[in-house]
Amino acid sequence: MAERRKVVLTRAWPAAAEAHLAERYALTRNVDDVPLTQEALGAALAAADALCPTVTDRIDAALLDGLDTRVGIIASYGVGFDHIDVDAARQRGIAVTNTPEVLTDCTADLAMTLLLAAARRAGEGERHVRAGAWAGWRPTHMMGAKVTGKTIGLVGFGRIGRAVAQRAHFGFGMEVLYHDPFAPPPGAAEAVGARRCDSVEALLEAADFVSLHCPATPETRHLMNHERLARMPSHAFLINTSRGDVVDQLALAAALKEGRLAGAGLDVYEGEPKVPDALTALENVVLLPHLGSASEETRVAMGLRVAANLDAFFAGEEPPDRVA
Ligand code: DGY
Repeated sequence: MAERRKVVLTRAWPAAAEAHLAERYALTRNVDDVPLTQEALGAALAAADALCPTVTDRIDAALLDGLDTRVGIIASYGVGFDHIDVDAARQRGIAVTNTPEVLTDCTADLAMTLLLAAARRAGEGERHVRAGAWAGWRPTHMMGAKVTGKTIGLVGFGRIGRAVAQRAHFGFGMEVLYHDPFAPPPGAAEAVGARRCDSVEALLEAADFVSLHCPATPETRHLMNHERLARMPSHAFLINTSRGDVVDQLALAAALKEGRLAGAGLDVYEGEPKVPDALTALENVVLLPHLGSASEETRVAMGLRVAANLDAFFAGEEPPDRVA
């Protein structure tokens, strides 16, 4: 019998996904779920046939430089791949794959969770009840902003942005605006009642809620900076389920503190897992710990999607989700 390929998981995965891989491959699991050091990642790249990292692993040129890599494929567990230097991998002939589609619905659901929680002050209300501070119903208590019928602006109109549009439009009767440098598939905008804005600025000025759905690239780093945040009306809310780098967090905290923005809902942060004190000190921001894809069903599906990429690669076929 042919020797089984060596596959290394850098973090603990849901049991069903690990079991599926273990049936096919000589699997190294991370039972303690402690992030690997750069040294340990390098050792895995040198000794295994495939490495399956996550957003918490940094696979950069410095790591790959000078390594005698055995790995033929880096099959990442997640849709975003900004933690991998794909050019450096490509130059070394290493394939890189991600896990699109399977997490679209859950990430869109979480964007709506944050939007609703921020608008209706759900985080603040929860803290209030748990602190024993609730003195009873009254007409002016914790009034938030109505969501139904308002305007949402989507920065980025890929799969997740469009799934948010669908929820916002059909679920909450919202007017949907979007901006994306890339055109959506024919009919996709019409299907979710979305209208294109020519610039991010025009969208920011027109929306009551802005939700970010663009990848982290050098171009989108701090896209939401002081100037762009200032384009948003003071009654507006910012939602981010994409990547932390897209927002200048300190500029956002200042805008929220000074009442130049009504509220925000964040699932992602620059320099995770650190969250600036300037944000945790505020009541008008809902903060979640990068949970976009965190449903049991989706996290298992992501593992199976990695497996499909590995299976194709080792069968000599093109992996379905190849990004490099
Ligand atoms: C993703 O899939 O990109 C999630 O943010 C976790 O990496």
